[in-house]
Amino acid sequence: MSEALMSLAGKRVVVIGGTAGIGFATAVLAREIGADVVIASSNTANVDAAVARLDGVTSSAIDLRNESSIARFFDTLGTFDHLAITAGDWHIPIFAPTRDIDLAAARNSFTVRFWGALAAVQHACRVIVPTGSITLTSGMLAYRPIKGAPMATAISGAIVHLVRGLAVDLAPLRINAVCPGITLTEQVRQMMPPERLQASVAPLLLPRGATPAEAATAYVYLMLNGYATGQALAVDGGGSVA
Ligand SMILES: NC(=O)c1ccc[n+]([C@@H]2O[C@H](COP(=O)([O-])OP(=O)(O)OC[C@H]3O[C@@H](n4cnc5c(N)ncnc54)[C@H](OP(=O)(O)O)[C@@H]3O)[C@@H](O)[C@H]2O)c1
Repeated sequence: MSEALMSLAGKRVVVIGGTAGIGFATAVLAREIGADVVIASSNTANVDAAVARLDGVTSSAIDLRNESSIARFFDTLGTFDHLAITAGDWHIPIFAPTRDIDLAAARNSFTVRFWGALAAVQHACRVIVPTGSITLTSGMLAYRPIKGAPMATAISGAIVHLVRGLAVDLAPLRINAVCPGITLTEQVRQMMPPERLQASVAPLLLPRGATPAEAATAYVYLMLNGYATGQALAVDGGGSVA
């Protein structure tokens, strides 16, 4: 394979949610294959800590809950090639059976992952190169709902269909999503006791959680492959077909 197909040298990559977890791993990988990387998230202490951990990246704060913050971020960013959005606010409870859903929290659960992502795409469109790509984050539950999690399925499914609509509307700009299965980020390790984690991965074809680096590979693939658009790429240990 041509080396150019596997390189992001000379490309500018922005990762919103890039200060932790899957986003940080995406920033690391994009950097490793030559990109100039900008990482961003809402908490400036997290932004500073992430930059200190990863040589050669630049950073900025952006809060996907706040459209002025999103507009400001892209106004000062300058032109760039690829955007990955992995921002997610785990503190909003999206895992609850239907009868126990807190409707206010359910509405709020779309704020960052759906509405924030859409606003970021809208503002990014003004400064991204036309040959670039935007990759959003869905989740395995879009295709394989589980009991006690209708909202998590709804958010993930909404992202898949948002991506399909955006890809048609914004072509030739490429728009895709990654659907991670259980991915062992620091956040997930803290949230899930080992027994629950083990029970969740046991039915998978590959009965373990993904590493953040495995999920990151999918984002970088979607940046590199200039013919992929409108897709939702699962990295879920076969969870969507198990
Ligand atoms: N890990 C999994 O098993 C898994 C599975 C399926 C889907 N997902 C989805 O994948 C995404 C990443 O998951 P993860 O485990 O990597 O999460 P994570 O480690 O908690 O990282 C989330 C990132 O989002 C940023 N963020 C949170 N609120 C934000 C806001 N308002 N504006 C901008 N950035 C914000 C965080 O930084 P700040 O706090 O500094 O803002 C952090 O950098 C999430 O959307 C999650 O729902 C994850």
